[in-house]
Amino acid sequence: MMLDLHVHRKRFGAAAGVGSAGRPGRQGGAGGEGSAGRAGGVAQGRPPPVLADIRLQLAPGERLALVGASGCGKSTLLRILAGLDDQFEGRVLLNGVPQHGPSRAVGVVFQEPRLFPWLTVLENVMFDLTPTWGNGRGSGARRPGSIPATTDPRVDDRMHRAITLLEEVGLADLRDALPRQLSGGQAQRVALARALYTQPQLLLLDEPFSALDAFTRMKLQDLVAALARQHATALVLVTHDVEEAVLLADRVLVMGAAPGRVLRQVPVPLRAPRHRGSAAVADLRAELLRTLEAAMAPAHAHSA
Ligand SMILES: Nc1ncnc2c1ncn2[C@@H]1O[C@H](COP(=O)(O)OP(=O)(O)OP(=O)(O)O)[C@@H](O)[C@H]1O
Ligand SMILES: [Mg+2]
Repeated sequence: MMLDLHVHRKRFGAAAGVGSAGRPGRQGGAGGEGSAGRAGGVAQGRPPPVLADIRLQLAPGERLALVGASGCGKSTLLRILAGLDDQFEGRVLLNGVPQHGPSRAVGVVFQEPRLFPWLTVLENVMFDLTPTWGNGRGSGARRPGSIPATTDPRVDDRMHRAITLLEEVGLADLRDALPRQLSGGQAQRVALARALYTQPQLLLLDEPFSALDAFTRMKLQDLVAALARQHATALVLVTHDVEEAVLLADRVLVMGAAPGRVLRQVPVPLRAPRHRGSAAVADLRAELLRTLEAAMAPAHAHSA
């Protein structure tokens, strides 16, 4: 199993099980109250868990979509997968090895491109923040965040890899441009290239196209499907777009809120390439919408 995650419990504010003297979390409204369920109840003075008893396994190259109401904990789960949040009870194993912190084997694309404004497109792609001791897929020793010096003999190889990625995302001509000269769609293409630069086995995407117009979004969905195939990368995609989930995933997890947990799994048994206009996609999209509606119905809010 390439990825094996179990988040027993995740709270904000009171670093659960870690013994930190955190401030109380957001007080929130009525939303998160009263349904800690089997996770052990809400101890006095501690905020309720945001995630409870989430198990997730992923085979190499498998593509998973996460859908669920706003605030149910999708981004929190993705941050845990990315190694950006280790304040939780549970574990994340990558190829059997416990993960602590960001890894070269995991690439991330957020809703906004998060590019460095003072670096060119090419430099942004090559900017590598992950520690060198990651998961051994890369070559040679590398300082975190190092931009290659021109005398470095490995520069050619890295530069070549970055340029090839820029070609793959359709931006070869813009390698020397600065982020402010890019459209939203172009900037997100750079973010994709950067996420793939470390040759990750797992690509995490948090609503990567939701800020883009419909046409650009479709182009980028097709690009992600092609890139994931080409690079044999597993995907975890958070999305609010049910069609996007059906087009890109092999399996869709429907999450519920308070605490965030997996309510349903919907397989997407369609071969690639998948066509937006096809009856099979439309049928699965409708089924997934019904599942999502049922999962989000008030009756579910307090079920176990
Ligand atoms: N840093 C934080 N401190 C305290 N509470 C937080 C923090 N980050 C998120 N939360 C809370 O955790 C819950 C889950 O948030 P999260 O961002 O994971 O939801 P989401 O499913 O990604 O929502 P959306 O679909 O709107 O992006 C929310 O109730 C949110 O208010
Ligand atoms: Mg989110």
